[in-house]
Amino acid sequence: MVAVSASASFATRLVQWQRLHGRHDLPWQGSRDPYRVWLSEIMLQQTQVATVKAYFARFLQRFPDVASLARGSEDEVLGLWSGLGYYSRARNLHRCAQAIVQQHGGVFPQDAATLAELPGIGRSTAAAIAALCFSERVAILDANVRRVVTRVQGFAGDLAQAAQERMLWTLASELLPGPAAAAADMAAYTQGMMDLGALLCSPRRPQCSQCPVAGVCRAQADGNPEQFPVRTRKLKRSSLSLYLLQAQTRQGEVFLVRRPNQGIWAGLFCLPVFADEAALRAALPAAARRQLQLQPAFLHVLTHRDLHLHTGRLLLPEAAALDLPGQWVSAQEWPGLGLPAPVRKLLQQG
Ligand code: ADE
Repeated sequence: MVAVSASASFATRLVQWQRLHGRHDLPWQGSRDPYRVWLSEIMLQQTQVATVKAYFARFLQRFPDVASLARGSEDEVLGLWSGLGYYSRARNLHRCAQAIVQQHGGVFPQDAATLAELPGIGRSTAAAIAALCFSERVAILDANVRRVVTRVQGFAGDLAQAAQERMLWTLASELLPGPAAAAADMAAYTQGMMDLGALLCSPRRPQCSQCPVAGVCRAQADGNPEQFPVRTRKLKRSSLSLYLLQAQTRQGEVFLVRRPNQGIWAGLFCLPVFADEAALRAALPAAARRQLQLQPAFLHVLTHRDLHLHTGRLLLPEAAALDLPGQWVSAQEWPGLGLPAPVRKLLQQG
């Protein structure tokens, strides 16, 4: 992979374009007040510009500066955030204001590295504040900017991989204005990256014919901008709690049921499974219920799911009828059955 050679020319073109065609009238622009920039960046992380505008104004009216925010109650901060979603942003915002007051005398740190140590301020947000307010020569990399950088650089690395993501930060830094131009250009450059991603370099049908950096864009030259960025689908992990009835006799017989043909452990033999402890208890006769011994939960990790397995043990003198689907299986027979791994382990432990 060869990076764009005319990187200086990329920055120059972008800065020029931002000054002429970029956005200049957003409520958080027109000032280099880090409080306003920080607040807007946090609000804009998962929310559209159009929605953020009204929230931003209301929030500033109630909390005009970092000291007033630090003094406010978390409940009031959450109230002003109500409707924006992702409330950990609001809690971190409040904690961050308090940290700035307590650890930095109420004054925002001016460099990205120190900003990134504060609650809720990630690498890109720290860079945005430092570049927009203090002209630090650091790259931002939010979703819009990732698209711009991967396209311009023709970077096809899979961003689901941490090493490729790190590489992209390096490639983003290579595009920055040179050190001599930083003081004059970093704010316009940073806003320009955001504006280009939002206005022209869209995920589908980017408007390359109007793009100021089309001449230095690798993906545009290759005719495939829509193929960037590359990110394999990351499967979202989920977690599930299951309650298993481990009924056994003194002779080592176990009560097993065949799982349905769909869903977890499809078609395998298994201990009876319940969604919660109450359901497990309700399935037992009163006498058995009293003897049930609930074991501490243990974790079984599947590819896409964490299973928290709770076991209710029931030791019976003999293979008595249970009013449940399933059957008693002898100590000689069950080891030969198809059993889920964690269930086999439980039974082997006795
Ligand atoms: N998204 C994130 N930061 C932004 C900004 N400063 N202006 C517009 N959109 C943004």
